[in-house]
Amino acid sequence: MKFSASTLLLSAQAAAAALNNGTNPSEVPYYGLSPPVYPAPVGNGTSDRSWAKAYKKAKALTAQFTLEEKMNVTNGFEGLCVGNTGAVPRFGIPSLCFADAPDGVRGQEFVSAFPAGLHLAATFNKDLMYKYGKALGEEYYGKGIHVALGPSAGPMGRVMRGGRNWEGLSPDPSLAAVAMGAITRGIQDSGVIATAKHWLLNEQEARRRPSVDESTPERRVTDEAISSNADDRTIHELYAFPFMNALKEGAGSVMCSYQRANHSYACQNSKLMNGILKTQLGFEGFVVSDWRGQRSGVASANAGLDVVMPDHGFWGEKLVEAVNNGSVSEERMTDMATRVLATWYYLEQENNFPETTYRSYSTVGDPVNVQADHSDLIREIGAAGTVLVKNVNKTLPLKDVKMVSVYGYDATVPQSPWQNPNRYGGGYEVNFGWNTFNGTLVTGGGSGISTPPYVVSPFHAISDRIAKNKGTIRWDFYSEAPGPHYVNTEACLVFINGYASESFDRVSLTDEFSDNLVINVASMCPNTIVTMHHTGARTVDAWIDHPNVTAVIYGGLPGQESGNSLADVLFGDVNPTGKLPFTIAKKEEDYGELLNSTNSKDFFPEANFTEGLYIDYRYFDKKNITPLYEFGFGLSYTTFGFSNLETAVKADVNMDEFPDPEIDIIQGGHPELWDVVATVKAHVENTGDVDGAEIAQLYIGVPGDDTPARQLRGFERVGPLVPGQNHRAVFELTRRDLSTWDVEAQQWRFRRGTYKVYVGSSSRKLPLEGTITIE
Ligand code: BGC
Repeated sequence: MKFSASTLLLSAQAAAAALNNGTNPSEVPYYGLSPPVYPAPVGNGTSDRSWAKAYKKAKALTAQFTLEEKMNVTNGFEGLCVGNTGAVPRFGIPSLCFADAPDGVRGQEFVSAFPAGLHLAATFNKDLMYKYGKALGEEYYGKGIHVALGPSAGPMGRVMRGGRNWEGLSPDPSLAAVAMGAITRGIQDSGVIATAKHWLLNEQEARRRPSVDESTPERRVTDEAISSNADDRTIHELYAFPFMNALKEGAGSVMCSYQRANHSYACQNSKLMNGILKTQLGFEGFVVSDWRGQRSGVASANAGLDVVMPDHGFWGEKLVEAVNNGSVSEERMTDMATRVLATWYYLEQENNFPETTYRSYSTVGDPVNVQADHSDLIREIGAAGTVLVKNVNKTLPLKDVKMVSVYGYDATVPQSPWQNPNRYGGGYEVNFGWNTFNGTLVTGGGSGISTPPYVVSPFHAISDRIAKNKGTIRWDFYSEAPGPHYVNTEACLVFINGYASESFDRVSLTDEFSDNLVINVASMCPNTIVTMHHTGARTVDAWIDHPNVTAVIYGGLPGQESGNSLADVLFGDVNPTGKLPFTIAKKEEDYGELLNSTNSKDFFPEANFTEGLYIDYRYFDKKNITPLYEFGFGLSYTTFGFSNLETAVKADVNMDEFPDPEIDIIQGGHPELWDVVATVKAHVENTGDVDGAEIAQLYIGVPGDDTPARQLRGFERVGPLVPGQNHRAVFELTRRDLSTWDVEAQQWRFRRGTYKVYVGSSSRKLPLEGTITIE
């Protein structure tokens, strides 16, 4: 499959004309435009041998299919699973079962609740990212689910108050990319098709879908969905970037998103599906619509949609009719069905795939138990994604404490509603219902939630520790101003959270009740330790400087082992390595235009991504705003020193400005994009007095004044190291890491010149500086 830029370049002229007319707020090529890219590329399995084999089998079958049979496999049917394709019994093709969520099989018994994506990202740990995907995949597999509806890198978290940021990974494209790749590989190594979602620019919940008047026979649209408008370079370097890694690792499915992208609905956007995904990135699998996200029949088919969910939508018999009257080519319809079957073969699901035992809650009988020993991994990831940001005079770890007090609704599992009617937290489905009252937050809300088999609350885990130490624990989960103070208490542990869900964006990153609670406890207790469970950034300006707030933890969304993971850190069994996967501002206003989603009353609302590449820490760097806690920051119980920076450019790879045009694109993009072109090495030394590991981070300053000052391009876990020990971190930089997207050439291109190299422990603590020169 070769990429041709001609269609796109023609459209660039149109874009320039539109911009000259002053119709767009940004002067960047393609901004707000979705140039047409037709016809849809036909999948052929040229990426590698496994795809080739899979395509051979799939093509042999679809050649014998009737139109109705092709329609059947590209079409959703409501049934057992969240989505189900139609079967072709004549050839033994089963109905494929699609199910959520990215952090655990949702709505089933005897499944595990893994930490959310955002929590996993905070581990900055590649090994755990892979193990997460692998274990998750095993649970899907065990339940006979063919297609897992995750991982998610959209939203990335452009909007700080976005409702689904926690389902995704991080607003940093490299961190999100590494995680997307590792999770995808993990899921698929377990035999389950991974779905990279939501493609693309799905950054807010407000008006993500059109409103439809169901009372009118034609289901009249009363307003359209938001249009996320972004320029071509931003699409490639920021939003599509993490998806590339999922594709590189073989992702079999991609879900197109609900909203409009550059004015065209994502599930009928030919530039995004035919152009970027299937041409530039050589996608061999199938594109599935988000649930009821299809907005047209012929247009979506020709723009590259392959499967519609959860029902036939605008297709079914209508698609057959469209093929019969020539509006959609039969080749296109064959390609849709072939892509589904090829992916099924690619994952070898034709061989003894477990029976689908996904089922409704009311089914009586023994459900298949797929939890295995995943609780150990969940506990480990829970602790590894726990981020310590304040620790005055070594408040933590708690050593040999005999008496603690525990405060706040987030410390315990959900209680009866009458005990506290205000819902500040409580993110998990109790008994599979929506009666979530103030419990500890282990997952967010909406289709992305996990369904814990049980939850170990912070209170539960801390009680266990205190009991073992023959101590005393006191608590108050409900009061905003608890009291009186237990004078022999050595530490007051306060638990608060910040809930968010699919379907709506957050109205604040804080809440008054929680802030008051912290201040009230701190006003009586000289050793107040605050833990937050959160679905994204949580600002803390109301109390962070209070002298009695001695330690602060960003506890993320840790899943079912929540309390155990936290206690492992609090009591020092685990020396924290977690790092913030986003920026914590001193105050909410500092996020500027990136704080809120766009809320407009227009029939055609617009969200203008005019900040381009500059989201999260890139925005803070550009605007020269000092954050409270920067991206990549997190404390350990020990300290680390960095030294001996070495950089080297490889001699044995193609270093031409553009990748070799003679080489074919494969899934994930041009193969040379993944060539290691340079290495960076640095020593990390444990300079403190306890054992610990550090996440060494590499940031790059790409030459030019149109690039972010620093971009994360590598992270390596070093250690555990004993005090005084040092170890070398080795970072490998690929061609893509050192390229920018050239809009004219429609290629990734090296910038000739000197790249700045920074190594350290966060995006702002970068003691080592050097350079790499690309001649
Ligand atoms: C969500 C998807 C999800 C699907 C199926 C949609 O509302 O946006 O992420 O996979 O529902 O539950």
